[in-house]
Amino acid sequence: MDAVMTDRLVLRRFTEADAPALFPMMSDAQVNRFLPYFAHTCVADTQSYLERNYLRWYRAADAGERRADGLPLDMHAAICGKGVDGEAAELLGFVSIDAEGDAYDMGYALAGDAQGYGYATEAVTAMLLEARRAGYPFVTATHDELNAASGRVMERCGMTYRYSYRERWQPKDIDVVFKLFQIDFTRGVPTYSGYWERHPQHWV
Ligand SMILES: CC(C)(COP(=O)(O)OP(=O)(O)OC[C@H]1O[C@@H](n2cnc3c(N)ncnc32)[C@H](O)[C@@H]1OP(=O)(O)O)[C@@H](O)C(=O)NCCC(=O)NCCS
Repeated sequence: MDAVMTDRLVLRRFTEADAPALFPMMSDAQVNRFLPYFAHTCVADTQSYLERNYLRWYRAADAGERRADGLPLDMHAAICGKGVDGEAAELLGFVSIDAEGDAYDMGYALAGDAQGYGYATEAVTAMLLEARRAGYPFVTATHDELNAASGRVMERCGMTYRYSYRERWQPKDIDVVFKLFQIDFTRGVPTYSGYWERHPQHWV
């Protein structure tokens, strides 16, 4: 996706050079609590995270590759503040839609000192608009039932609750009750059923 500007933010591609600025957030235990990987312990962890989750997909997209279903696979953005001339300023977090799988799962996080200003709602809204424009039929997001702030972000962005399920969550190996939210961009699209099918403890 191209860079996107909102009222207060710029969403742009990550680069390798972002690792040192991203590391403090990725190593923050509070920020990490609800994220699906362990907190980073050195900048090299953040470098390999960037490569695995974002940079390789940008390269693939630039080489003309797409997801197996034809959709773009580079829906991964750094959330940045907006400078006085509208340029991307300080790195605040990330918002990303999985390049693989059939859930079109979106994840996001902000550095601790960027939380509480509605930035996540602004960034996620912009990413959902991009996904809709790109032809995604729907987007899902899941949050730990204890992560109320994330649930509010989903609601504020127009996603709706569909079902809950209990998962032995890896790699942290803890029991988590997740709530699945979804937003539909195509009329009549069914609720994504993958988590329901994979996790026997599920309910609406
Ligand atoms: C989840 C997260 C992205 C929210 O970002 P944010 O920009 O701070 O969110 P907002 O300021 O837009 O607040 C969203 C809502 O959550 C509420 N909220 C914030 N912290 C809360 C808390 N600890 N408990 C309950 N509600 C909370 C806010 O009041 C707001 O609700 P409102 O719309 O009714 O006013 C941010 O907390 C974060 O990065 N957390 C760590 C990573 C993470 O959990 N990512 C999501 C994984 S599913």
